Amino acid sequence: MKVRTKYLTACVGLVAAGAVFLACSKAENRSRTEPNPKPTTRDKATTAVTKTPWASANKELTIVNAYDAFGEPGAGMVKDFGFSAVIRYGGKTILFDSGTRADIFEGNLKALGITAKDIDIAIASHAHHDHIAGFDYLLRENPKVQLLLPKDFFGLGSPLTFSIKGKEANIAKTLAAKQRYFGGKRDLAKNKLESTGRFWKANVRYIESPTQILPGLTILPTTSKLMGTFVRYPPFGKKPKLIGLPELSASFSTSKGEVLVVGCSHSSVEEIVKAASKAGKGNIRLLTGGFHLLPYDRTYLEALAKRLKKEYAVKTVAPCHCTGHLAFSILKQQFGDKYYLFGLGSKIEL
Ligand SMILES: [Fe+2]
Repeated sequence: MKVRTKYLTACVGLVAAGAVFLACSKAENRSRTEPNPKPTTRDKATTAVTKTPWASANKELTIVNAYDAFGEPGAGMVKDFGFSAVIRYGGKTILFDSGTRADIFEGNLKALGITAKDIDIAIASHAHHDHIAGFDYLLRENPKVQLLLPKDFFGLGSPLTFSIKGKEANIAKTLAAKQRYFGGKRDLAKNKLESTGRFWKANVRYIESPTQILPGLTILPTTSKLMGTFVRYPPFGKKPKLIGLPELSASFSTSKGEVLVVGCSHSSVEEIVKAASKAGKGNIRLLTGGFHLLPYDRTYLEALAKRLKKEYAVKTVAPCHCTGHLAFSILKQQFGDKYYLFGLGSKIEL
């Protein structure tokens, strides 16, 4: 795996590789005791796409962070909280999420030398605004792009069939036709809703089960049990029901293993890794994206980092977005030089 930056060349020119390694190790050993450790050489060594074309033709996969709140991006890119990554794989340009503001997203893509028309396939990890608002720009400029969305009625308006018969369904017959839903002419047990909204008339495919989209690219759906839509109407009055939040992740097969891209990991990053494994995508060379670890403490995070490395044999990690400072620090300690700082404008190639 190769991570290119303008800083890497400068660092190598100044010090021998062995000295760099020692400096990184010492800095990482210190980070538990120093509340504000200085950025390590490796931190500085993994940022900024500075030239186009952004993806090399001879690489199996290139992934660049196009929307995030940290990093050392090149000129013209703007930091904001949200996530988007652009991936070049199998001769296609694939967008994974699109950030919080369409104008910032558009500017960041253009600063990387990418336009909406370059995107062949766009994936939305989930319905939250910090992942999907940039699709406004994408669809304005490239309205026929193939969109892959989680099947989420509440968040994304995916088609939904549900009963509107209610209790004592025979009561309908006592009502005048003009008071009955659809004049009493439809099967109310199978009422179908199809929404307009952001993705109206777009080329959308809703993904409900592990689905191969291209040779080597599999979309993995999971459902968060930690957040979603809370239902307490009868018959759930005493025992509220949580309709979990549907999410998509993307796994790209390479000769070095899988590159697993996650959005916000509301299903938990561990459950997504398990889902990948279940779908035959368990040989994870790189795990990247938002791990959503902001709410967790050191004890939980240290155990999770260990499990990711030892139990699930994740080889390298490049966490970003909602992973959080504490998890950045702990994952870096656990993975050492297999940890990549993947902020806005960073690029990883395999
Ligand atoms: Fe997010």
